[in-house]
Amino acid sequence: MLLLRRCQGLTRCGCLAPQRAQAAAFGAVRLTSSSSHDRRSEHPGWRQALAGLLAGTGAVLAYGLHHHKAQQTEGISVHAKAQTAPLPIFSQEEVTKHRTLQDGVWVTYKGGVYDITEFVTMHPGGDKILLAAGGALEPFWALYAVHNQDHVLDILSEYKVGELKAEDQKKQQSLTTSDPYSSDPERHPVLRVNSQKPFNAEPPPEILSDSYITPSAFFFKRNHLPVPQVDPASYELQVQGLPGGVLRLSLEDLKRRFPKRTITATLQCAGNRRSEMNTVKQVKGLNWGIAAISNATWGGALLRDVLQAAGYGPDVAPWARHVQFEGLDKDVTGTTYGASIPLSKAVSEEGDVLLAYEMNGEPLPADHGFPVRVVVPGTVGARNVKWLSKITVSADESGSHWQQNDYKGFSPATDWDTVNFKSAPAIQELPVQSAITAPADGAVVFRSGEELTVKGYAWSGGGREVVRVDVSLDGGKTWQVARLRGGGGDEEQAPEVSPPPGRAWAWKLWELTAPLPPDARQLEIVCKAVDNSYNMQPDTVAPIWNLRGVLSNAWHRVKVNISEDEE
Ligand code: MTE
Repeated sequence: MLLLRRCQGLTRCGCLAPQRAQAAAFGAVRLTSSSSHDRRSEHPGWRQALAGLLAGTGAVLAYGLHHHKAQQTEGISVHAKAQTAPLPIFSQEEVTKHRTLQDGVWVTYKGGVYDITEFVTMHPGGDKILLAAGGALEPFWALYAVHNQDHVLDILSEYKVGELKAEDQKKQQSLTTSDPYSSDPERHPVLRVNSQKPFNAEPPPEILSDSYITPSAFFFKRNHLPVPQVDPASYELQVQGLPGGVLRLSLEDLKRRFPKRTITATLQCAGNRRSEMNTVKQVKGLNWGIAAISNATWGGALLRDVLQAAGYGPDVAPWARHVQFEGLDKDVTGTTYGASIPLSKAVSEEGDVLLAYEMNGEPLPADHGFPVRVVVPGTVGARNVKWLSKITVSADESGSHWQQNDYKGFSPATDWDTVNFKSAPAIQELPVQSAITAPADGAVVFRSGEELTVKGYAWSGGGREVVRVDVSLDGGKTWQVARLRGGGGDEEQAPEVSPPPGRAWAWKLWELTAPLPPDARQLEIVCKAVDNSYNMQPDTVAPIWNLRGVLSNAWHRVKVNISEDEE
């Protein structure tokens, strides 16, 4: 409210910049019309939507769209009313003058000039948004082509105050048409693409359970931004925050100065199985199926060793609580991807946190963080920062959007009107998980086969070992215990002995072969895993539904039909 009042003060108490007053005189500034102003003020989604557009954060953008749609259903049209008078023409020079709250915050989009002062004033990440002030929105838009532009542009249209001079539009075009994703790497065509730009894709489930180690080409890919191109010869990793000053390491330093460790660890995105939450109520985020999870062998230096080389040790930096990571992938404001993990995990002898430069025995592929990424075994994918450039030992968590305002869990009662991201901790260790990779939902099984084989994966966060997977063929009424394929020594690539307690970083593939129930025409196959802390998956999705669709780990269910015909 305080911010809102400040904003009203700006617009109503004579702080209007001359150009804005000029626009108002043309009758174009709806910002000053009390009805539209009040309407926008009542709906935080308005400011979040534009913030998302500018800051390039999918979640806030989605937040705004949600409100926008809700308003449309309520019959409050947010489309711009027909213009009654031509809008004033502004030069780029004039637009550029509007980069502060005092002067007003203006942006251009496709030749239009927009005054977004109100949004910027009210948005908590205002500093970042201000980086876009006085310039074109297109570069931001290009980063998030996945989002439904029409809805956001509808919202933006409310803020139109003028047109950009024709010659300035021409100059802008050459700057704004470049595609930030043009140097993204080639990907395997078998991947199921959830979004092309940024690239997000998962393998088909049946491929996933084919091998204990997921081939890198099929490993799920989760990028928030364009893949940065990094020259390994000039690559430098900075380690900072400790009393000894900044330690700078080249790729060669990392390989030569520290013993190489190899760890097999499963990575899972917090949004894995989000699509099942959508069946309860729509959530915001990429519509991941069951394969935003994969398992690889990672080679690199232990973060613990590198922190020690940078001066960390007992009684050094007693104030330190977190280790922050920064990637080289940037949005147009220059903001990089970032995350942090607790210091205790980073320096623990049993934590096995790696600064990995190899994946499955090869240099890291571009999509997976070449030349160096953090691998934090047992911890949500989001903290496994790729294209790593900076490590900071700190008293605080990473201040990044992805640590503070995303990748957090909430009650099913929390919606986009009530959510307070500060109230929930950042996800670190993930809960126990399992899913059925074969047969697929809706598949036909032939009775002539007499037996049915069900396959899947199971994994738990925090190094907790999956000790059992139960499978039901009748929707959960009766259960059978599946055979675990990883850690039991019966699988070529899987380890022969169980991992040390608390260090079970890799998944287990499982399998159950059972006779087909005699009279059934349809089966509801269900699986649920148990880890060595006896954590079990919840039976249904509804009680764990949350607005971002994270931590989706209910019993996995697939329905198959039995055909009496010959195969
Ligand atoms: N690191 C950077 N620099 N940029 C990113 O977009 N995505 C994170 C994490 N690290 C991301 C990142 C998320 S949300 C996940 S789930 C994992 O990387 C995915 O890793 P992968 O693409 O190797 O599967």
